[in-house]
Amino acid sequence: MRARTAILISGRGSNMASLIAAAADPAFPAGIVLVISNVGSAEGLKHAAAAGIATKAIPHKAFASREAFDAALDAALGEAGVQIVCLAGFMRILSDWFVRKWEGRLLNIHPSLLPAFKGVRVHEQALQAGVRVSGCTVHFVVRELDAGPIVAQAAVPVKPDDTPDTLAARVLQAEHKLYPAALRQLAEGKVKLKNGRAVFA
Ligand code: GAR
Repeated sequence: MRARTAILISGRGSNMASLIAAAADPAFPAGIVLVISNVGSAEGLKHAAAAGIATKAIPHKAFASREAFDAALDAALGEAGVQIVCLAGFMRILSDWFVRKWEGRLLNIHPSLLPAFKGVRVHEQALQAGVRVSGCTVHFVVRELDAGPIVAQAAVPVKPDDTPDTLAARVLQAEHKLYPAALRQLAEGKVKLKNGRAVFA
């Protein structure tokens, strides 16, 4: 049985597309059953729908509180029988209870080698720091932002003439390979969250 997986997006959805492409292979251990966006106009929703995947827009602005929005998210995931949730460019902080409920089944991708360069303007931060290597990280989501136990990382070189955009594009290519590989590991039970650590089988 493939792990029923949902992807949460806010925009372009290129990482979402890479997960959908990987899961198009019936031998992949996770199936994408739902894509949810907190932004109704997110480009990624169109791509997902065109790929034949159920989509849902849950605009956070329609809710009075973060908790109410997260409850609607959780209800949609429950209705679809979702087992794993992948955040892919999902630009909302999730409530503590949501994170706790989905603990060990909730992944995020971040465009830096965590714990370096958390938050936003990540590539600006990397260039400002003068690092010669950057990359991306897939991690379990915990309460603290961009801080969960690391499942997988990939490194890319930083070139002397890089701008935030050229670095972002190089990192993004690595993201598109890394996220499906990390989801595979989780869906196959080869990585688990145990006592706040990623444990590998
Ligand atoms: C990706 O680079 C992802 O790592 C980043 O947003 C981009 C979304 O692109 N996520 C974060 O910065 C989260 N902290 P995409 O919509 O094309 O996948």
